[in-house]
Amino acid sequence: MTSAPAFSSSNVCGPRSAQITVLDTGGQYTHLIARRVRELGVYADVMASDTPSPELRSRKGIIISGGPASVLEKGSPDIDPDILRAGVPVLGICYGHQLMAHHLGGTVQKGERGEYGLAHLTVTTDDCLWTGVQNSQIWMSHFDTVSSVPPGFRVTACSEVSGVAAMSDCSGKLFGIQFHPEVVHTHAGKQILENFVFQICGAVQDWNLSQRVPVVEEQIRAAARDRNVFFFVSGGVDSTVAYTMCLRALGPERVYGIYVDTGLMRKSETEFVRSIFTELGARNFMVDAAEAEFLHALRGIVDPEEKRCVIGEQFVKVQERILSTEHFLDGHWILGQGTIYPDTIESGGSANADLIKTHHNRVPGIQALIDSGRIVEPLTSFYKDEVRAIGRELGVSERFLSRHPFPGPGLAIRCLCSSRGAAITHVREGFLLPIRSVGVQGDARSYRNVLAIPDSPTAEHISNTAPALANSRSDINRVVALCDTKAPLAGLRVFGAALTKARLDVLREADAVVREFCLKVGFEHEVWQFPVVLIPLGASEAAPESVVLRPVNSVDGMTADVALMPSAELRRLTAKLLEIPQISSVFYDLTHKPPGTIEWE
Ligand code: XMP
Repeated sequence: MTSAPAFSSSNVCGPRSAQITVLDTGGQYTHLIARRVRELGVYADVMASDTPSPELRSRKGIIISGGPASVLEKGSPDIDPDILRAGVPVLGICYGHQLMAHHLGGTVQKGERGEYGLAHLTVTTDDCLWTGVQNSQIWMSHFDTVSSVPPGFRVTACSEVSGVAAMSDCSGKLFGIQFHPEVVHTHAGKQILENFVFQICGAVQDWNLSQRVPVVEEQIRAAARDRNVFFFVSGGVDSTVAYTMCLRALGPERVYGIYVDTGLMRKSETEFVRSIFTELGARNFMVDAAEAEFLHALRGIVDPEEKRCVIGEQFVKVQERILSTEHFLDGHWILGQGTIYPDTIESGGSANADLIKTHHNRVPGIQALIDSGRIVEPLTSFYKDEVRAIGRELGVSERFLSRHPFPGPGLAIRCLCSSRGAAITHVREGFLLPIRSVGVQGDARSYRNVLAIPDSPTAEHISNTAPALANSRSDINRVVALCDTKAPLAGLRVFGAALTKARLDVLREADAVVREFCLKVGFEHEVWQFPVVLIPLGASEAAPESVVLRPVNSVDGMTADVALMPSAELRRLTAKLLEIPQISSVFYDLTHKPPGTIEWE
């Protein structure tokens, strides 16, 4: 990982030191733990699991996160064992609990059947971690278990499966819990974290977003000195809030925003973003019209990975062109970026994900600015929900802050292409569409066909039929239901199709119809995200396309559940979509993630 300098620069805006540090052993909930502590009003950060003990001496408490590894395997994430003897209170969660037992002379065993999902906590011994905690529902997710506790520890709770659901050594201020207090399914989770943070660690409330805003503004003024700041704004929440903070700190004359119109965005997006920036008082907001460049670069490209690659390269070229023609590289300018806290962490299981995310922020011109410290990143201490709260405080419109997440490569990954025509095949389970979409199976991405069933979508299809079908055929990763069609399903065929303006316009139109309808009936705010996908499947040259509706619910996009639109509304929406002349049929994606991804690519 080579991107550290951007975040260790003196221009990163944030407080100096956290009271509580979460050590990351690669678990998907690591950041959630830190967020929960912050929700208690206490500043918490995340560091690599093996951070040396002396670096953590000033902390009031340490939490070791859960993670997918086994302490019994060589090379699994580890801690500096000295943290367990330094006198700073430590709470081990799940893998952290096992790691604590392992280091201090307890025994960790491969479990016989694991314990996943809801369980019941039975408190067996009074403990300072249990103040105000009743026997109640907890969330478990583990295979290994602690079978005997280290010398000096007591077992303080059990569950149906785990004899040691919790253990503690009060005099050493060491606590281990096998379950996850950070997830909402653990009913006493907040109380347990509160007991640890306040009673045991003696932390004080020091994290208040309204008080942070003026501090960060002061840091922005110090970083900018007499120079101006320019941003490549994406129309997303992070870059917009970061821009707004700079606007407030430096005044509208000194802050520039450049929005690249790639031609891959939703209908009226540029106008929408412009109106938001005007509302915020921006004076220097430029739109770079790059649609022709992007579409030219994407000519004839069908493969999803290649599409992403070309779009990434094109961004780099456009940024380089803007940097040189607008003279942003001369000494009067520094670069502003909307990097948020999770993007800055280089530890445990997050390192690889970060490498992918920061990639586009590292074009050579930008790297030169970073290397010379000419960068300001006002949001590096904040989580996404904190950024939204700050945005609200700064007067960023709710109609902007409450928008669904939207991928950087835009509609390009929702407009499927095909190198040649092909017929669809009737199979026992339905119709096999000769269109491949991306999926995720295990840790790897898959690229497989789609199975269409000729029925309208139902809850039963989503929970039972589709998972069973996806498991039964190794050539598919997705199942869709037919909402309605202008021609019999058996007569549809795939047409050779690439990414063209004409096709993107059809998708933009369909996407706008869906969005407008969902805003009207309230479905927009009932789902986390609602991609509309265009596939080159149709009845004739005049109507060569179909639309797939992909509404999902999710917390962070890592996993997702299909959301079902009420059938009367779905019928009305389908009828509206079929009014678009090029659209031949409308489908509904029945596939959770995994095995499908949210986007089709
Ligand atoms: P997948 O398709 O992997 O998507 O299930 C998970 C979430 O990530 C979003 N996504 C992206 N967001 N740049 C982004 O900013 C991207 O390249 C990108 N690709 C996918 C997707 O919309 C979903 O919310």
